[in-house]
Amino acid sequence: MTANSPDSHVNGILKQLSTPWKIALERANRIKNINFNDGLILDLACGSGIQLAAYSYQLRRPCVGIEINSERAEIAKKSLNLILENDLLNECKIIIGDSLKKSEINLDDNIRFSLIHLDPARPTNIQSHTISEMQPPPIKTLEIWKDLLIENGGIILDLSPRLSNEQCEELERELNRVFPKYRQTWEWSSQGRGRVDRLSVWLGSVASKNNLSRYVRNHPKDIENSIIVESNKLSWNENNFELKEIDVKINDYISIIDAALISSGLEDEWIESKKFEGEWLRKKGRRPLFLHSNELKNNDKGKNLIFETGIVRSVIEHKIEDGVGPLIEIGNKLGFKKLTLRMKILPELQPIFQSELDKKLVDLGDTGFVIKLPKNKLAICTKI
Ligand SMILES: C[S@@+](CC[C@H](N)C(=O)[O-])C[C@H]1O[C@@H](n2cnc3c(N)ncnc32)[C@H](O)[C@@H]1O
Repeated sequence: MTANSPDSHVNGILKQLSTPWKIALERANRIKNINFNDGLILDLACGSGIQLAAYSYQLRRPCVGIEINSERAEIAKKSLNLILENDLLNECKIIIGDSLKKSEINLDDNIRFSLIHLDPARPTNIQSHTISEMQPPPIKTLEIWKDLLIENGGIILDLSPRLSNEQCEELERELNRVFPKYRQTWEWSSQGRGRVDRLSVWLGSVASKNNLSRYVRNHPKDIENSIIVESNKLSWNENNFELKEIDVKINDYISIIDAALISSGLEDEWIESKKFEGEWLRKKGRRPLFLHSNELKNNDKGKNLIFETGIVRSVIEHKIEDGVGPLIEIGNKLGFKKLTLRMKILPELQPIFQSELDKKLVDLGDTGFVIKLPKNKLAICTKI
């Protein structure tokens, strides 16, 4: 079976646990042209085997997966069977075992790896994660296996996007201690919806030559067409702010930018690369805001990082918690048929306010949105 057909198999199994096939393939695709010399691919906690199979398939190299849970190991075997052609498959192996007990894992004496992948398990359904919760523990596990990595090898370590900046910094230091000669690139990736879906560290030959961090916005259908922004600084060294006191004027433009880009700390690189002129009104939260005086002329795929743009029609002083009366009045005066509240409001008030606005705006003209500005001001914008 070829790589075009495992979708149905992949979609069905271990939905919670496994890396989605398209994402697995996209990551593997980005490293397929690296010259790794000789060496196999090793996954130290292979789970469903999806990511491992994607590497093996794209790099055309045999692989070894270790998995402590025998049921998952069986699934990993099936994944390899379905995805890889026989000549490659015959050289691949899934081993049921504990990566922390290397001596119990039966491998050929002369086996060497050009790529090591580790995607440790972490607890589900909690808001924040810590390094100590990951199983197997990443630093300890990589330390145990590093002698089997070839000289110009690479490592990809998957982490929880819910790690705090302090935890990331600690990991950065620890990885530098264990792999002092390896470059590190931290990668934030998102499939949209403003959320970081994955955080990972790429080391050695898979790291970017000159960049410490990278933001990848995965294209939902086309793996070759992801948006990639890179930089030589790390987000935990940056100072993000809530709302800045900038004078917002009528006819200014306000854009809501992909929040996952901000989490990666690469927003300024992206703004510069696009030659957008303006300033950040807010960098934190679900709706980062960029204020600009000209429309962001951007016909290419980079546009996808702009969630919404509007032109300011009115700025009023009003506390949203006091109701939407003034918005209805001004909305009708300016000819809006719809105004969406794009701001943080108490969850119990949000639907009430939004439905009142929806009902009481009568005009059939513009659609727009409302955002909060400092000092209890609201900006009413027409969507463009
Ligand atoms: C997040 S999942 C990996 C998912 C995988 N990347 C995929 O594509 O399906 C982590 C896996 O690590 C396994 N694991 C935990 N501790 C382990 C250990 N000490 N040795 C080997 N595997 C371990 C878990 O059973 C789980 O299947």
